[in-house]
Amino acid sequence: MGLSREQMLVEMGISPIWVTRDTVPPADERTASPLPAEPEPPAARGGASTPSIVPVVPTVAEAVPARADGKAKVEVGNLDWPALARQVAECRACALCEQRKQAVLGVGDTNPDWLFIGEGPGSEEDAKGEPFVGQAGKLLDNMLAALDIARGNRVYIANAVKCRPPGNRTPEAAEIAACWPYLERQIALLKPKVIVLLGKAAVHAVLRDDKPLGGMRGKPYEFAGIPVVVTYHPAYLLRNLPDKAKAWEDLLFARRILRERAAPELPF
Ligand code: URA
Repeated sequence: MGLSREQMLVEMGISPIWVTRDTVPPADERTASPLPAEPEPPAARGGASTPSIVPVVPTVAEAVPARADGKAKVEVGNLDWPALARQVAECRACALCEQRKQAVLGVGDTNPDWLFIGEGPGSEEDAKGEPFVGQAGKLLDNMLAALDIARGNRVYIANAVKCRPPGNRTPEAAEIAACWPYLERQIALLKPKVIVLLGKAAVHAVLRDDKPLGGMRGKPYEFAGIPVVVTYHPAYLLRNLPDKAKAWEDLLFARRILRERAAPELPF
């Protein structure tokens, strides 16, 4: 995107308070595949030799009534990426399917260090089929760039719910619960080294916790043996600029955890 690290930090509203002094490259640095510009043909997507997964063109969902009672049980078993993508595209497990243009599975490197989890698609994501492509997504991209990472390069981005809540409202607990098996399967397939939860819906989905975010920041959590860090949602940060500095602290905390796991003997 052509901005320097310093410009990214300025854009995040955290310069000159927070500067990256940590210049030691990660011990496990590797070349990640960039996000393909165009969707690959389905046969090539999600296989063992394909490191990235792109938004999936949805198939037309069957005219099956949606479950709106929160009692839907999505079965994902040991689905691989193509089968999971197909099932998400056709999902009728909750009422969010009624108004979506398409389900938004996630995007990025399917062998990532980082997994960022947001809330749910907004109107732009619903239209494009990719998470975080609106204003909040621009801020997220700048946050990633400040960490020297990018969507599709060591990073996968997903949401707590795969379908847009009408009017961009917060997803309800039953909707998050109905969608959870998909996110859980994504985490199992991705095996990220660190998970960053962006906002309350993601925290509710993964940690089953509804405490205020402020009290959860800066503490290490874990899901399925993977370290989990809690921070603010980028859309919240757009409305609460002073908290960008806290979010940057959280990302540095996550990076420290990641590097300690990659090379515990190195003093970072
Ligand atoms: N907000 C989210 O939580 N997810 C998106 O994909 C877009 C905005």
